[in-house]
Amino acid sequence: MSHIRSRFDKPPDELVVKYTSSLHFDWRLYSYDIRGSIAHARMLAKQGIISNEESNTLEKGLVQVAEEIEQGKFEFKPEQEDIHMAVEARLMDMLGDVAGKLHTARSRNDQVALDLRLYTKEAISETLGSIRKLQQTLIKLAEGNKNMIMPGYTHLQPAQPVLLAHHLLAYFEMLLRDFGRFEDCLKRTDVLPLGSGSLAGVAYNTNRQFLAEELGFSDVSRNSMDAVSDRDFVIEYMAAASVCMMHLSRMAEEIVLWSSAEFKFIELDDAYSTGSSLMPQKKNPDVAELGRGKTGRVYGKLMGLLTTMKALPLTYNRDLQEDKEGLFDTVDTLLSSLKVFSGMLDTLKFKPENMRQAVNQGFILATDLTDYLVCKGESFRNAHGIIAHLISYAVKNDKTLNMLSLDEYRKFSALFEADVQKITVESSIAARNVTGGTSLKQVEQAIKKAKEIACNL
Ligand code: ARG
Repeated sequence: MSHIRSRFDKPPDELVVKYTSSLHFDWRLYSYDIRGSIAHARMLAKQGIISNEESNTLEKGLVQVAEEIEQGKFEFKPEQEDIHMAVEARLMDMLGDVAGKLHTARSRNDQVALDLRLYTKEAISETLGSIRKLQQTLIKLAEGNKNMIMPGYTHLQPAQPVLLAHHLLAYFEMLLRDFGRFEDCLKRTDVLPLGSGSLAGVAYNTNRQFLAEELGFSDVSRNSMDAVSDRDFVIEYMAAASVCMMHLSRMAEEIVLWSSAEFKFIELDDAYSTGSSLMPQKKNPDVAELGRGKTGRVYGKLMGLLTTMKALPLTYNRDLQEDKEGLFDTVDTLLSSLKVFSGMLDTLKFKPENMRQAVNQGFILATDLTDYLVCKGESFRNAHGIIAHLISYAVKNDKTLNMLSLDEYRKFSALFEADVQKITVESSIAARNVTGGTSLKQVEQAIKKAKEIACNL
């Protein structure tokens, strides 16, 4: 922009123009920039700082700039530095001198902070919607497959039988906490920075409350220096996104495992699978793998901005321009991941026979046998030791628990009686009838509760 370089004797070096320009990414803020400028023009007129006529002219011009951008008719020139200057330059071309009045009582520092807050607020509401959608998919799957039994794992070793629905609802809970984190982040993003000027506030009789109302902010920033240099809200979005991606990545890992030939718990829909360029038999879970992989990139952007901001003196520093690409990429990655995961889950098929078969392998009822002895009067630690010996015996004799005779059981404890053979996968699940447990009764209640929660989100 030539007019902001009047004090210089020469134009910027070509490399400097390229190095400092943010237009190739911050053009994405154009609609927020224009909304902010319209509100600002209206406020200036309301306060008698410019005339109503000037405000109307500016507003019409701004609407036209927005249309030009939307229709692809707008020419973006890197030498215009950023979207704020690009919009203003076009306004100058269109309106002449009056365009120069728009920046009264405003700086690019409070302008960019405003644009980014408006963008982030919208990103949060889209994120909340996408989380809710994925939660609804999980509830639907839990409800539709209520009786399916699978091994629950610790250390990826079969541990205790659980209902598949219980496993699925674990992700509902994680996403609910994610939802809360984004809602919380919204509270602190929903603060109007405009009116802070470059750093010290502005020397005009402005009306920030009016701006807040025009732009839909619930609060007005209380400290101009903080308002132009704060990017906590971006960091908070990225942090919440990192946790949410971590959850998706855990889900992704399970989808990869479960769709493997070794597990065969699920079959992914063709629309959510990819082939191999070499091996014709392959049906690969690339969507899940990419979700897992993209988690790294989201963490990286968070670390990037934290590092950029570390030790920045107050107030605005150009370093802050580095906030946008990471945020945009994080929002794009999280939203696309949430959406594609909803589709992938909604279309996959469970293989209940294979899950059931996996439950029957191993010694998944060992805890139930321990509990059995405890019920008969043995102390828990002794019972644990007895069952450990029993299992060691079974392993050595190449037997599973249900292949052992009552006599064999009784070699390890006289407390065993015929009813020990009534311990089954079903009885194991039914026994876990505590709040948060995997019994069908509890899971049915959990589904009901999840539906209520999802309705009120
Ligand atoms: N493009 C800049 C950014 O994204 C806008 C603010 C520029 N302010 C300034 N004083 N140079 O941070």
